[in-house]
Amino acid sequence: MAIRSVILGVGASAPERIVTNYDLEKLMDTSHDWIIQRTGISERRMVDEGGKWSDFVVPGCLMAMERAGVKAEELDMVIAGTMTADMMMPSGGCTIQSLIGAKNAVAFSLSAACSGFIYGLTVADRFIRTEPDMKILVIGADLISQRLDWEDRSTAILFGDGGGAAVLTGREGERGILSTRMYSDGDLWDLLYVSGGGTLDPAFNEASIKPHAIKMKGNELFKVAVKSMGQACLNALEEAGVKAEDIDLVVPHQANLRIINKVISRLGLDMEKVIINVDKYGNTSAGTIPLALNDAYEAGRIKEGDLVLMPVFGGGLTWGATLLRW
Ligand code: ACO
Repeated sequence: MAIRSVILGVGASAPERIVTNYDLEKLMDTSHDWIIQRTGISERRMVDEGGKWSDFVVPGCLMAMERAGVKAEELDMVIAGTMTADMMMPSGGCTIQSLIGAKNAVAFSLSAACSGFIYGLTVADRFIRTEPDMKILVIGADLISQRLDWEDRSTAILFGDGGGAAVLTGREGERGILSTRMYSDGDLWDLLYVSGGGTLDPAFNEASIKPHAIKMKGNELFKVAVKSMGQACLNALEEAGVKAEDIDLVVPHQANLRIINKVISRLGLDMEKVIINVDKYGNTSAGTIPLALNDAYEAGRIKEGDLVLMPVFGGGLTWGATLLRW
């Protein structure tokens, strides 16, 4: 029987501070109605001033480890899918390794913007296929609120802070990852990017937020997101020999409710099978899928044996999809 990568436990967390659409109305020329209609977002979480990425990432990791019954020193690898860790160096993976005490693990970060968690699952899956005893903590989490230009209403309303983690290991049987795919197209980088802080535009002596804020071509990105995520889902299903109608639950990247609606209708599925929490958290980049997976788990919406599909899309451009049997 095949060895597959199984999620032993999932956890998530987000800062406590809630920022509603009504709060944003006071900061810029926008309205709750416009944001709800165009995106489905009602509120998002944001760190307080001085807050940092690891503050809310560690509780999500500890929750996943407790549910998995795996202690920090048993972890062999920590993969952090993020673009907003506490420091440029060390990596977010090493920061979390130290904070949770995963002293026997190798830790690193993986930069794939919103796709970080699905890229992390894919890398973990490849390791587990060759070394099934490995226990791997995969993190997807971002602190985007410090990367927002409050004078750009078309991006500032979309994002929030949060994320989560999953612990994986190899198990014989039907459960686990059936197919996981990742894709990229660097030619489309300028649909979504942050230039400041890299070597092209170093941060030294910068007084302005502008180079460090997210820039986005929303309309173009919307179309590419629908097309790429839809195709990634179809490819993952085909590779696993699974029909779309057999999917029990879709846990998609939560960027915009309209994008999710279109991807789901392309798959011919009912929205009742889809986990939506973009209304509560906005787009937390690499954090959206673990946050939504954790919501589904805590609400009892995932049962053992369910087929779960998790499509994602983000800056790079990057995209992908993981199909697993829970
Ligand atoms: N409040 C009020 N009006 C606004 C706002 C706002 N916050 N933002 C833009 N508008 C205005 C625009 O100025 C424009 O006005 P005009 O017609 O007078 O010029 C009008 O609303 C329509 O603007 P569009 O950009 O055409 O609106 P659209 O329906 O495309 O929605 C949005 C914009 C929500 C950004 C959409 O394009 C989108 O979601 N794109 C996908 C990108 C995305 O989700 N990115 C997240 C990161 S990517 C990822 O995670 C994968």
